[in-house]
Amino acid sequence: MADKSTDKPIEVLLQERRSFPPPKSFKKSANMRNAGLFAKAKKDPKGFWAQAAKELEWFKPWKKVLEWDSPWAKWYIGGKLNASYNCIDRHLSNGRGNKAAIIWEGEPGDERVLTYRDIWREVNKFANVLKKLGVKRGDRVAIYLGMIPEIVIAMQACNRIGAAHSVVFGGFSAEALRDRINDAEAKVLITGDGGYRRGGIVPLKRNADEALKETPSIKSVVVVRRIGEAAHVDMHDGRDHWWHDLMADAPMWCEPEKMDSEDMLYILYTSGTTGKPKGIVHTTGGYLTGCHLINKWVFDMKDDDVFWCAADIGWVTGHTHIVYGPMANGVTQVMYEGTPDWPDKDRLWSIVEKYGVTIFHTAPTAIRTFMRWGTEYPQKHNMKSLRLLGSVGEPINPEAWVWYHKYIGGGRCPVMDTWWQTETGHPLISPLPGITTLKPGSATKPLPGVEADVVDDKGNSVPLGGGGYLVLTKPWPAMMRTIYGDPDRYVQTYWSRFPGKYFAGDGAKRDKDGYYWLLGRVDDVMNVAGHRISTMEVESALVDHPKVAESAVIGKQHEIKGQGICAFVTVKAGVDTNSALVDELKAHVAKKIGAIARPDEILFAAELPKTRSGKIMRRLLRDIADGRALGDTTTLADPAVVAKLKEQYEEE
Ligand code: WTA
Repeated sequence: MADKSTDKPIEVLLQERRSFPPPKSFKKSANMRNAGLFAKAKKDPKGFWAQAAKELEWFKPWKKVLEWDSPWAKWYIGGKLNASYNCIDRHLSNGRGNKAAIIWEGEPGDERVLTYRDIWREVNKFANVLKKLGVKRGDRVAIYLGMIPEIVIAMQACNRIGAAHSVVFGGFSAEALRDRINDAEAKVLITGDGGYRRGGIVPLKRNADEALKETPSIKSVVVVRRIGEAAHVDMHDGRDHWWHDLMADAPMWCEPEKMDSEDMLYILYTSGTTGKPKGIVHTTGGYLTGCHLINKWVFDMKDDDVFWCAADIGWVTGHTHIVYGPMANGVTQVMYEGTPDWPDKDRLWSIVEKYGVTIFHTAPTAIRTFMRWGTEYPQKHNMKSLRLLGSVGEPINPEAWVWYHKYIGGGRCPVMDTWWQTETGHPLISPLPGITTLKPGSATKPLPGVEADVVDDKGNSVPLGGGGYLVLTKPWPAMMRTIYGDPDRYVQTYWSRFPGKYFAGDGAKRDKDGYYWLLGRVDDVMNVAGHRISTMEVESALVDHPKVAESAVIGKQHEIKGQGICAFVTVKAGVDTNSALVDELKAHVAKKIGAIARPDEILFAAELPKTRSGKIMRRLLRDIADGRALGDTTTLADPAVVAKLKEQYEEE
């Protein structure tokens, strides 16, 4: 762990002494107030998770709660259910039919409110559309859309007919979309003519057309009209259809498929330590059970809440905290299409005020941005409706936590710092608002039913006060089941480093009270503004450029984004290294992966520091970029290389 760039600030973090006990109102009426459940769940995890699953509606009960043949898990064996039925239909019969499910605001200011009944109708119709396009149970459907209600409708429609969705973030490039479609062998792509973002138009359909040149599995494309004329899209005869045309005569009822608990619900791609993204597979019964319970407890979702998770549905946070968790709980939620600074930097707070948002969830990188913009923006608005806040995606520094608590939460709203991953399905380490005393910067403790540990290199538990690798020691229902099409990689990535334990890829320390302090990734995955990007992915994009010979990419500490991307590049013989090439390479990476992966810095190096066996020593590059003294250089083939690079970096 000594080589992690996050080590030093954490020493400071652990001196954090402020603490915030649960406010009286939460102690009195939070959904989860029974601290005794921690011990009970530990003693009988299967009983605990069986109880949780009973809160859903099953067409057929399960016979056995868990089969654990490490690392292969099966939960609620024999049980049959349908996710869309649980997220929508059952609310119609419990009096929530006319309740707002989604209050949506477009970036230009247009608004739509869809009740649960509206969503039900649209989902049924679109499920029938998909069937008509030949989508069958077990097929995969790719979705490449912005933040409009149709993305939720499309996802729920997929699960209604037993097809797995694979949502690709609308900010990803054509190539990234193509690779994900091909890996999943999706039959249908659902996209839009475009989306609004910071006053401009995201050309979704044009990117999709580029991707579709090399996606043989796609038979049909459904296009939502969001922009109209200005999008200038080409519709390909026979392949492309407008959403509204297909919906016009679609029947209003589609029988929900009775899915097996272990049937695949969705695939979501995330970066790993190699260049190839991993298709994380989640299944129906376990994921929905966990998602329902954890949203209900951590975010204390109640019938009169207005919940707003300001994440994009292209990431797991949007799956769990927009599409599945809140809807399974039948709450009203706000959904916003655009960026927080359009037309001005108070957009989010104006939305909070306008719709009376009670629970707000965002990422530390956003909070740091709000801090920089200044308190005048939140202070322009009455945000007294807020009662609870959430943070997710990266470690939150205590200063940002305290600012968030004070200026957004008015000092009265507990902050839920939720640690989890695409792979885990929902938060695993997180406070509970009616129980946990908060410490700014700590995700606090594992939730009931979750068993975690911090271990050393050999896999031995590190006593309280020490640090090491975060592992999960027991299966939980919403855990990923495999990597799509690559079960070996699943075993290798998560279960081989410490046999029998799930290796999260994060470093962590525990203080004397047993609170967890997450330290960031311990592998070659960067966390850039809350997005996981692998160094290898960016390196592959760079060496794909004809002028580049070799590259090494690292995450560099960044005030707002947590980490920024810094690339060290060696060029081919005879190539001029100038600022035009820097721009060209940055644009190249953005084109290959998406703007989120555009390097912040590119430094041309004559040589990269390597070990005698030829491995690039990224740790030394991190030392250079973060301005630290160089760590141990004794294993280098030529220590002069790195010394020279450091000098050069400091000069530029
Ligand atoms: C990081 C996002 C510290 C962590 C839900 C993890 C966090 C990766 C936190 C997963 C947190 C997420 N504190 N670190 N509260 N939440 N992370 O798959 O490094 O996009 O491994 O899932 O984000 O990112 P992913």
